[in-house]
Amino acid sequence: MTLILGIETSCDETAAAVVEDGRVVRSNVIASQHDLHERYGGVVPEIASRAHLESIEPVLRAALNEAGVKLDQIDAIAVGNRPGLIGSLVVGVSAAQSLAWATGKPLIAIDHVQAHLHAPLLTENQKPETRDQKPVFPALGFVVSGGHTSLYAMQSPSEQTLLGSTIDDAVGEAYDKAAVILQLGYPGGPAVDRAARQGNPAACDLPRSLLARDSVDFSFSGLKTALLYTVRGRPSGRGKQARFERSADDLTDPQRRDLAASFQQAVVDVLITKLNRALDHMAALGQPPHALLVGGGVSANSLLRERVAELGEKRGVTVHLPAMTYCIDNAAMIAGLAFDYHQRGEHADLDLPAIATTSLISGS
Ligand code: KG4
Ligand code: ZN
Repeated sequence: MTLILGIETSCDETAAAVVEDGRVVRSNVIASQHDLHERYGGVVPEIASRAHLESIEPVLRAALNEAGVKLDQIDAIAVGNRPGLIGSLVVGVSAAQSLAWATGKPLIAIDHVQAHLHAPLLTENQKPETRDQKPVFPALGFVVSGGHTSLYAMQSPSEQTLLGSTIDDAVGEAYDKAAVILQLGYPGGPAVDRAARQGNPAACDLPRSLLARDSVDFSFSGLKTALLYTVRGRPSGRGKQARFERSADDLTDPQRRDLAASFQQAVVDVLITKLNRALDHMAALGQPPHALLVGGGVSANSLLRERVAELGEKRGVTVHLPAMTYCIDNAAMIAGLAFDYHQRGEHADLDLPAIATTSLISGS
């Protein structure tokens, strides 16, 4: 049995977890900073890194305690060292470096985006003999988060080729901006999702930007602008001089819910169309996928989860969605993916850097 301690501090959650053999979560501790950032309507990097500094040690202790293990029973220490806010990443990376140095255990560097694709493969308290043995790879990987909207042809948990990604806003970012336009509060994605469930998705016909006929790239900025103009009318003047015909204060709650539902319908229609295209794409490359792995904050979205499950049935692919706990940023996905690297002996040097960008731009 291999136990890996994972650390994640890329944005506004301080997280640590212990995972057994890459799949079974023994503990998953997350200290959220949402309350600290709420009044600014977004994450303030300086506040985030200070809060990580305060939380990292208690979070690490809690993860070991909940797993019922001592540090010397851990086989390796994994950390998300990219991508993210640099001041936040540095806190987790320094903690991991110190632990690896003090204990002599190997250090493993994990890309946060790649780790989101491991989240759907995590399980809890499963007995080894009942673990899912079905082939997962080659798989189509779909990351839908606040910073990324990307499709990957995956050959293994740690080898993938980028098929397509967003050319402007990430889907979570579009959700967060829609929440601002509709005055639905922070964090935006869950608020829009909640409102949408009580609204009429056919109330307003918002555009679905599908780009070229076989494109698997995404664009959400037109949809966001269409929602803004629907709510506030067309502006006169540009930039800071722009004056709108109406204010979002004029919306009634039922109108807000209908607009949220129409927005959500448009987003998910686009995501499903692109998933269909990407499945065709992989088949055409001679790699028909066994499975679809979805990860990232937006994989918590209720409509996306429903429609992805339907798509899997229609296309004969096994759909793996993360449990709700593993949709948001967490360290179990870091420790889980690290098992694959550990088995191949791919360990990092103790002077591992924190890096702001993902390593998955052009695959592998
Ligand atoms: O993966 P994540 O926690 O952070 C990044 O790595 O970016 O994703 C956060 C994003 C936010 O934009 C949030 O609004 C969105 O995921 N999100 C949702 C839902 N829950 C979180 N978007 C739509 N529906 C949800 N239920
Ligand atoms: Zn994330």
